[in-house]
Amino acid sequence: MSEEKVQQKVKALARKISKDFSGREVLLIGVLKGAFVFMADLARKMTTPVKMDFVRLASYGSKTQASGRIRFTKDLETPIRGKNVLIVEDIIDTGVTLHHLYRRLEARRPRSLKVVALLDKPGRRKVDFQADYVGFQIENHFVVGYGLDWAEKYRNLNGIYVLK
Ligand code: IMP
Ligand code: MG
Repeated sequence: MSEEKVQQKVKALARKISKDFSGREVLLIGVLKGAFVFMADLARKMTTPVKMDFVRLASYGSKTQASGRIRFTKDLETPIRGKNVLIVEDIIDTGVTLHHLYRRLEARRPRSLKVVALLDKPGRRKVDFQADYVGFQIENHFVVGYGLDWAEKYRNLNGIYVLK
């Protein structure tokens, strides 16, 4: 997926999200590390005021199990109670990460809680999870670039590519 195609999609997502929030402040919560590139571009294309925070998650046990849990290795620095919150994720694969993160953040009583994922692999779900905003639905391939890594490599590619 070319840099141009990715940028066009990020612009379209930013426009749609800004319109939906109609001028209200949004707290973007990036899921480290993969989402940092997407979030940087998305945030700069949004026309509504934004604040930013990040979480970093680790999964307990095997991620291939639907029962897999997550824990914060870096929690938010901001209280989210009463705020409009948008979780920013690079890709939804099994859905385990977002399923658990969503529930953990929901319990803190934000005013609203939405999710944007640049990429979505619906064919890989282990738990039911749907984002409010999705950039591209893709096949069950492992992809790298634009924040996504393989063994920490390729995060800095401008486009998104299937790992060969
Ligand atoms: P999930 O809990 O299975 O939905 O995991 C999502 C996380 O797995 C993403 O945030 C990525 O860090 C990682 N991941 C899933 N698929 C890919 C891929 O194709 N390339 C790179 N990372 C991936
Ligand atoms: Mg990730």
